[in-house]
Amino acid sequence: MTIHIGAKSGDIAPTVLMPGDPYRAKWAAETFLDGARLVNDVRGMLGYTGTWHGNLVTIQGSGMGMPSLSIYANELITEYNAQTLIRIGSCGGMQDHVGIRDVILAMTASNISTPSRGIFKELNFAPCADYGLLTAAHAAATAKAVTTHVGGIYSADVFYDERPDLNELMVRHGILGVEMEAAELYNLAHRHKRKALAVLTVSDHLITKEALPAQDRESSFGDMVEIALAAAFPA
Ligand code: HPA
Repeated sequence: MTIHIGAKSGDIAPTVLMPGDPYRAKWAAETFLDGARLVNDVRGMLGYTGTWHGNLVTIQGSGMGMPSLSIYANELITEYNAQTLIRIGSCGGMQDHVGIRDVILAMTASNISTPSRGIFKELNFAPCADYGLLTAAHAAATAKAVTTHVGGIYSADVFYDERPDLNELMVRHGILGVEMEAAELYNLAHRHKRKALAVLTVSDHLITKEALPAQDRESSFGDMVEIALAAAFPA
């Protein structure tokens, strides 16, 4: 047990998928895992452990934003010895060639700040994904014929942004999408020598202003879960 996770030691698998939304953790566990059981419900941040193709997996909500994700990822790594952490979440598209429902595999995560800013201080550390997970996820997405983009994303601090110039700068520098968690997940993976990746579905678009219709969210989210699982356990 940790301050924020009620699971007993041994209840968390070495591989953890982390959606922002705890109800997505529940849905993904019930849909894709065998023998899924609830291992955490502290603060309603649901976590489930089960198996996928015989491999132990935990799906644990992270909450929204890097400060929340940082709490869960830190405790999963340092107290439960999680080795592979894959964020599964949504993002806003930032390029014309990136469409709604497309998948983005975040090679790097630019940011203004993360909860690790106090550690890095004057350094502009470059948080990046684990290459093995990235290539395995790309192979899985290609096999599923999901339109997939690999490149840099932007992990923002705020959803309701009063600085449109920052998004514009990211767009001009070829950043594929914006979300709010990946950079800190990558920082923690670097610090603790773990593997991390963010697999993201484009749910809205900053340029075209399109948004994924509610009825399509579940199937798009399902593709992402399967890509993450296949990346964690390549055949
Ligand atoms: N901004 C930040 N995070 C997001 C967005 C966005 O537009 N869409 C989905 N997650």
